Order: sequence, then C-alpha cells, then structure tokens
Amino acid sequence: MQRIDQIIKSVAIEAFRSTWKVDLQEDQLQVQKTRREFQGDFTLVVFPLLKHSKSTPEETANALGSYMVGHSEMLSGYNVIKGFLNLEVSSKYWKTLVNGDLRSPNYGFTGVEKNSPRVMIEFSSPNTNKPLHLGHIRNNLLGHSISRIMEATGHRVTSVNLVNDRGIHICKSMLAWQKDGQGESPESAGMKGDHLVGKYYVQFDRVYKAQVEEQVSLGKSRKEAEAEASILLEAREMLRKWEAGDPEVRKLWERMNGWVYEGFEETYRRLGVKFDRTYYESETYKLGKEIVLKGVAEGILYKKEDGSIWANLEDEGLDHKLLLRSDGTSVYMTQDVGTAHQRHEEVGFDSHIYVVGNEQNYHFQVLALVLKKLGFAWADKLYHLSYGMVELPEGKMKSREGTVVDADDLMDEMIKTARQMSEELGKLEGYGQDEKDQIYRQVGMGALKYFILKVDPKKNMTFDPRESVDFNGNTGPFIQYTYARIQSVLRKGAEERLPMGDLELNEKEVSLIRMMHEYPEIIQESSRTLNPSLIANFLYDLAKEFNQFYHDYSILSAESEELVEQRLLLVDVIGRIIRSGMELLGIEVPERM
Ligand code: ARG
Repeated sequence: MQRIDQIIKSVAIEAFRSTWKVDLQEDQLQVQKTRREFQGDFTLVVFPLLKHSKSTPEETANALGSYMVGHSEMLSGYNVIKGFLNLEVSSKYWKTLVNGDLRSPNYGFTGVEKNSPRVMIEFSSPNTNKPLHLGHIRNNLLGHSISRIMEATGHRVTSVNLVNDRGIHICKSMLAWQKDGQGESPESAGMKGDHLVGKYYVQFDRVYKAQVEEQVSLGKSRKEAEAEASILLEAREMLRKWEAGDPEVRKLWERMNGWVYEGFEETYRRLGVKFDRTYYESETYKLGKEIVLKGVAEGILYKKEDGSIWANLEDEGLDHKLLLRSDGTSVYMTQDVGTAHQRHEEVGFDSHIYVVGNEQNYHFQVLALVLKKLGFAWADKLYHLSYGMVELPEGKMKSREGTVVDADDLMDEMIKTARQMSEELGKLEGYGQDEKDQIYRQVGMGALKYFILKVDPKKNMTFDPRESVDFNGNTGPFIQYTYARIQSVLRKGAEERLPMGDLELNEKEVSLIRMMHEYPEIIQESSRTLNPSLIANFLYDLAKEFNQFYHDYSILSAESEELVEQRLLLVDVIGRIIRSGMELLGIEVPERM
C-alpha cells in the first residue's frame, strides 16, 4: 500500500510541473497531519516552495490545491490557511482502504524473505545465583516485543539469551549451600529452584557481613576486613577449582544451576518469552580468552608485569581495560568477546542488539571498541539498547539484601489484583472458573506488560501495580476491555462482513480510519527506534477513539441495515489492529471479559 502522504507528494510534484514547469523532488515537500483545529486530513507546507512558484503563499497554495483536487480521485477538497494547504481525503478513498489493506491479516507488516537483514537480539541474560526480578521483567518484555517488531518489519530475527553461569557470584551461593544447606533441594524445601539458590546467595552475604563487622570490631580497617573475610577467600578458592575443572565443584555447580534453570524456565513460560538459542558463559569464556591471547601475540593488547592483560583505549578517549587477570582467569568482558564472536560465526548477523540496563553503558562501549581493535569488521554492528531502571512506588529495588522485587511474586500479585478488581466490578459473573482464571491471568499480565512497555525504554520508571490495572486509564486492561467489547459487538452482529458501499462516513469514522492508516508507519518507527512504546500509545489512542465513537453512535441499531454493516466492518478492522498491535507487545487479548 502506498501511504497517503506519498501519494499527495507525487500529485503535488505533478501539479508543480504542470503549473510552473518545475520538477520538484519528494524530499523538497513537507506533508504532515492536519492540526486538529483545521479542516482537512493532510497539510502540505507551501512556504519552502515559494522560491519555485515565485508567487505569494496564498496563490501558490490555491493553485496547487485546485490542481490536486481536480487531478486526484483521492482528494475531495482543500482550504488554505496562510502558507498551509489543507487537503481532504475523500470518503470513497477511506472506504477503499477499509475494504482492502486494513482488513488484511498482515496489515502493516513487511514480509521476511530469504535475504532479509539478519538481526540478533539478546535479552534477559540472567546470572544463575538468584531468581529474576523486576528489572529482568522490563528487560524480557522489551526484548520479546522488539523481536516481534523487528520480525514485523522484515528482519530475520534470532533471539538469544546469555546465561552468566560461572564466576564468583555463582560460587557464593554454592558455598553457602555447602556450608549451611544440609542437603536441601527444591523438592525438600518445596521451593522453586532459582528461589532456593537465591536464598543461599543472601545467606552468603549475611555471613560475609558478619565476618567483616567482627574483624572491624577487632580493630581491622574496613577495607582490609572486606578483602580478607574468610568466606570470600573460600569462594575465590572455589572459583579457582571450578576453572581447574575440579570434579566435586563442577558437580555441585551443575546440580545447583540445574535447579535454577528449571525455575527460570517457569518464569519465562509465565512471561511468555522464548529464545531461539541460549548461550552459556561457561562455554564461551574460553573462546574469549583465546581471542584475547591472540590479540596479545599480535601486539594489539598488552601484558603487564604481573601477567594481566589489558586493552589500551586511550586513543578512543577511554582508559585501560582489564581483559585477563594476573592469575589467568577471565573477566565479564572476556566472555562477551567470545560470545559475540561465536554468534557471528554460528549464526551471523547484520546487526546485533543487546537489551541490557543502562548501568552497563560503559561495558558495551568498551566491548565494541575492543572487538574493533581486534579487527572484527562487524564490531560496529553491535547496538546496546540501554534501558532505564524500574522501581516500585515504595523505592529502589535492592538485590543483595533480599528485598528485591521478585518476578514470580510480582506476577502472582498482578493476577491477584486483577481478580480483586474484576470481583469488585462484578465483571465476570456467570463465567466458569477456568475461564475466569484465564481472564485474570491475561488481565494481570496485560496490566504489567503494558504499563512497562508504554514507557520509552530509555527512561527510568516507577511501576505502579494498582494504577496498571485501572480499567479507565492508559492501561493494558483498558485496551483489552475495549477489544473484548468490540468482539462482543461483532458476536451480536451478522457473521459475514460486507465491504463498505456508498454511504458517507461521519467525522469519527474518518478519524478512526485515518488513525489506522498510520499503523504501518508506527510499526516502522518503533522498529527504527527500538521503541515499543510508540505502538502501545498508538493502541491507547485508537481504543480511546473507538470508545468515543461507541458512545456517540449506535452500531447494531444504526439507522439502516447498510449502516450497521458499514460500522461492523469498521469495528472489525479496529479489533484486528488492536489484537495485532498487542501481539507485537506480547500481550494477549481476551475475547470476552
Ligand atoms: N548477566 C549480566 C547481569 O546480570 C547481564 C548480561 C548482559 N549481556 C551481555 N552480553 N553482557 O548483569
């Protein structure tokens, strides 16, 4: 489908050629939506054209308007306000859109082909020492939605997860379990595996802090006490053994990580996210090490006296970055060098998006620079989608202290809240228990997802559970409710949808169609800017506009049978676009609620 603003441009070019014998280029023309206070649908800005028409703004606009309306079936009228030419699109044209493109199941989507660009999208990427929290929820929702949006805009998407499954933090949980766990398992504790492991991570911290305090009270400096706490030294020793392949440590590691993976899987399933591939740091860090050592051999990286390996990034305006410790163990960055290389080899990509919080901006800046230094041509194809932090109204989330907002708990809480709200409103009376539960889940999860995704990823935000389920605000449930209302209207109407005929459209109908005409561009824009909030807010505007229409006009009891048909088709199309857009956000829409 050609967009209306493009058609307007080509008609304007024709008008110009015929009137002033000047050939304009498309990019010389500015077409925008007509401002609400004026009559019209699209506005051509005439001022920049005066040097070609060599005439006044009013005369130029009038000449263009009369030519354009006379030569394009699409346009039905115009008016001129100063140097602005406001153009009206005919009812007939709007109806052609509804009868055609707008009804198509893939409206607004670009197909994926054999040689469409390949995008790798990494998201989630947890550590295996504790369960997922609110920050991961934002991460997963963004990653999942952006994957869908990229797919919808003609990219071959590979979604990947990176599990940071090795390192000192993992050893901390393992050590605490070894000391105090008395063989406890998820089964014996009746706990999700990731929660159980998280419990021992918190336990480690408790012991560590107690040891530090004790040494401080005995007169040691805090810094020393922190560096020398015996439990920390034990954890380091465990990590060394892990890297050396010590069978006992490896066995414990596998067992506890296994618990964590089972737990994560359940959380992912509830969140509705999936990955095409999962990468494990334990499998890629060695490759990273090799690449780094090769970099030293080639003189790109350098070795200090103590044997540690560094990249000098001074020419790039940064400092020096550690890549291997003096004892030869690798760091977070080393692993990312290996992982990126492996992905490029195995799958390949034209661009690689990392969905990771903004506290890692420096990390990803350095990663790209190090890879570039090492001679990887694709280093400048890495893009860090750096998102802001999420808080609950009460205050910051903290992880170490065990007061973290747990992802599973939050989902439970949301579903409970959805149930309470529905019960208070008496919305689901007469529904079976299974159906009710299904709707509570959809609404609770929809509330959570929408509230987070409607915010620009770059911004910090506060997640307000109560506000997010409000049926009357800019919320998921409001849109879901609108969708269910549409389906209820459609169920009551005739089953077959006839195309629109000769009836005129009223102002609200035109406004709804005009909004839907923007949907493809909204998807493109949210893909270009990696910003699902554009789609979220578009859906809210559309749902609001529909509700006003529903309030102002009757659908099923409209004046004539033909008008009923016309409105049913319009409503059907609105429903499809709401469902399609919500799907891009990873949000389900209930058929009734
Ligand atoms: N696991 C890391 C963390 O929790 C995030 C990993 C992000 N991805 C990456 N490729 N470095 O902080």
